[in-house]
Amino acid sequence: MKGIILAGGLGTRMYPSTLVCSKQILSVYDKPLIYYSLSTLMLAGITQILIISTPRDLKIFEELFGDGSQIGISLSYVVQNFPRGIAEAFIIGDEFIDKQSVCLVLGDNIFYGHGFPKILMNAAKQKSGATIFGCHVSNPFDFGVVEFDSLGNAIGIEEKPKQPKSNYAVSGLYFYDNGVVDIAKSIKPSKRGELEITCVNNIYLSQKKMKVELLGRGLTWFDTGNHRAMLEAANFVEAVQTRQDLYIGCIEEVAFRKGLITRDVLLGHAQKMKSTEYGRYLYKIADTKL
Ligand code: TTP
Repeated sequence: MKGIILAGGLGTRMYPSTLVCSKQILSVYDKPLIYYSLSTLMLAGITQILIISTPRDLKIFEELFGDGSQIGISLSYVVQNFPRGIAEAFIIGDEFIDKQSVCLVLGDNIFYGHGFPKILMNAAKQKSGATIFGCHVSNPFDFGVVEFDSLGNAIGIEEKPKQPKSNYAVSGLYFYDNGVVDIAKSIKPSKRGELEITCVNNIYLSQKKMKVELLGRGLTWFDTGNHRAMLEAANFVEAVQTRQDLYIGCIEEVAFRKGLITRDVLLGHAQKMKSTEYGRYLYKIADTKL
């Protein structure tokens, strides 16, 4: 399975902070926002990853991550000239996806919770169809919202409805079989001019090929669209990391625990960041069995 991080967008809700740089490069507590999405893909066992961003921002991500070999993965990069919709990722990523299935994560989504790596690994194993995740939120009208029948089966998804039919929002993490490329090419832009991921998801639903997995209370999802959401996420990350001494979105740790890098390579990362708690954490996990 291939992975895509969609890390473009205008970030207008975060002006002036995003006037000259990508939202996904801004820090959420102690690391750039994009680390969280990257760690999600790595936890799913995905090691071939495409980062899509704006003509302005792509080079920053390239400078940050290079070819990915320092964390045992393979990264490539491609530009999205304008934010024409989430589903455009599959058209831009067509060549990269090739004949494989694909997982897409938005560059501004953070997931954390007990059992999440297992949920990810299971979704990545699925050979055909699609899996998306529904999360209970207080503001469903800001998202794609899942509608259920009386038996609890998902029957439709509405994009930013004025009167949501449930409190379950579709999060920015999507697993698809290879058919998604043709589906993305077949859909038309919506009224707001975007190739809507909700449109793609509704096609999978109507073909009965979509699994909507509901993430329960033990799982936390942040969609960091504005300053307040960034601060809430940062406070959460700080609280968990300080209390538990287990990090969220630490890509070097995930790489080490997955056997993608050696202890020596991990220690090299730790050395580079030795004047931070992040670096000291890397030193610690190099000698911890879990
Ligand atoms: P948005 O919330 O639409 O992007 P944004 O936060 O940049 O927008 P705004 O100007 O309202 O502040 O999209 C969510 C994420 O998906 C965000 O990380 C940007 C990314 N994205 C793209 O990279 N390309 C796209 O075409 C779209 C629609 C989103």
